[in-house]
Amino acid sequence: MSEPVLTIRRGEPDDLSPLSFFCDTALRRDYFLRRGQLAEMLRGDRHEVYIAEIDGVLVGLAVLTRPGRLVNVLVHPAYRGLGIGRCLVVTAGPREVRVKTDMSSGDPRPFYRRLGFRPSGERNARGNIEVFRATGAAAARPSTSS
Ligand SMILES: CC(C)(COP(=O)(O)OP(=O)(O)OC[C@H]1O[C@@H](n2cnc3c(N)ncnc32)[C@H](O)[C@@H]1OP(=O)(O)O)[C@@H](O)C(=O)NCCC(=O)NCCS
Repeated sequence: MSEPVLTIRRGEPDDLSPLSFFCDTALRRDYFLRRGQLAEMLRGDRHEVYIAEIDGVLVGLAVLTRPGRLVNVLVHPAYRGLGIGRCLVVTAGPREVRVKTDMSSGDPRPFYRRLGFRPSGERNARGNIEVFRATGAAAARPSTSS
């Protein structure tokens, strides 16, 4: 039997149905999107969406609001701890991450620290988002997309 293959690629409008199912079922508590928002994100006018698939099965996504600014990375709970989050961040190549510190699954700041990001000291007014910045070669965009 062949090894499973992880692919990271840009999301496209055709990904709307599987991505909606993924967000609605697996990530509802962490990532609520209003109607139409996902389709708008996938059109790519104001967002970059990256999708992680294992043998074609959607297992994670990353969302940037503009090049270099990551606002979310989400990996299906059953696939965490396998390096998928890291691959998504490295492929997206952000210089800045808006880290949501109050995720239902726990505080993700140690994950970003592990990837070489450090707190900038900036927070939102509510105090649940902290801006992290890449240091050195952290999360550099690789030459291939998988
Ligand atoms: C945070 C999240 C994206 C990490 O994805 P993942 O695929 O499980 O992470 P990886 O397996 O790629 O981990 C990469 C490294 O970070 C470490 N890491 C991951 N999560 C960690 C955590 N919560 N605390 C400490 N270290 C962590 C891993 O051990 C690994 O270290 P290694 O390189 O020494 O092996 C995933 O847990 C998730 O979807 N969480 C819920 C949503 C969330 O919090 N998103 C971020 C919002 S801004």
